[in-house]
Amino acid sequence: MRYTRDVPRHLVSIADLDAAEIVRILDHADRFWALADAPVKKLDTLRGRTVINLFFESSTRTRTSFELAAKRLSAEAINVAGSSSSTTKGETLRDTGRNLMAMHPDAIVIRHSYGGAAALLASVVDCAVINAGDGQHEHPTQALLDAATIRRHKGRVDGLEVAIVGDIAHSRVARSNALCLAKLGARVRICAPWTLIPRGIELIGGELTRERVRVTTRLEDGLDGADVVMMLRVQHERFEGEASRFPNTRELSRTFGLSERTLGYAKPDAIVMHPGPINRGVELAPQVADGARAVILSQVSWGVAVRMAVLERAILGAPA
Ligand code: CP
Repeated sequence: MRYTRDVPRHLVSIADLDAAEIVRILDHADRFWALADAPVKKLDTLRGRTVINLFFESSTRTRTSFELAAKRLSAEAINVAGSSSSTTKGETLRDTGRNLMAMHPDAIVIRHSYGGAAALLASVVDCAVINAGDGQHEHPTQALLDAATIRRHKGRVDGLEVAIVGDIAHSRVARSNALCLAKLGARVRICAPWTLIPRGIELIGGELTRERVRVTTRLEDGLDGADVVMMLRVQHERFEGEASRFPNTRELSRTFGLSERTLGYAKPDAIVMHPGPINRGVELAPQVADGARAVILSQVSWGVAVRMAVLERAILGAPA
């Protein structure tokens, strides 16, 4: 395959991608989808290349799928956990980046609790930097894999009604998805109690999201006629030092949880998504999480294909 280097190496934010570039990444990922079912799941496009996964926050799906993606493309994948890195001895993220760069990796994938960590790292290293989730800011590869999943199950993204329900205030997934889905022509409903909705969320993409993103504090309104229902967990780990935003989890679950009953507000063929990890029985009833309309494990599968595309694009460029 021939590649063109006319694409940026870093992937820090969905804001840096226009709709055509997002579609190019999704089309690139489509080429890798069938590989998951092949007996030998290996291509050699990144042979001899090195990818460092630098994770300062817990992860099951993102870290594993980036590692698998790198290995399926024959790259060397090195995992560095923040908890066992020298940042615990006082080293700054800048110095960590400079030291890793001295080992000449081709890409660094970073997850960090600081919104802005990926951009900061990109400013001090010469290799590609991919944001695997930075604080409450963005999780761009999650939004890309979600768009790929929607395309697969609904045939398109353009013109769909997508409800994003739950703890929007602390969610990088909600931000990246609202931007990505609006760019691809969907209409997005942000649905939560007002204490879990950041002020101005509908303006994160300027005029585009002002037109395409709307906020509601009623679950029935948010789900009414939706094609896609994306549920988010409450991110208790980001509440430290904050006043309580809702009376208790049980009440939040009763008013904003997705059950077989409340899913009835959405279209009969609506799909149910969740980036994981799920808090079963809180934002999502187990019968719905395991039901026929849930595409949650399909999201995980797309995570590998999309991250293969993102790594190839970062290191080699886009398919010409
Ligand atoms: N969706 C997601 O980012 O999951 P992990 O935290 O397990 O990576």
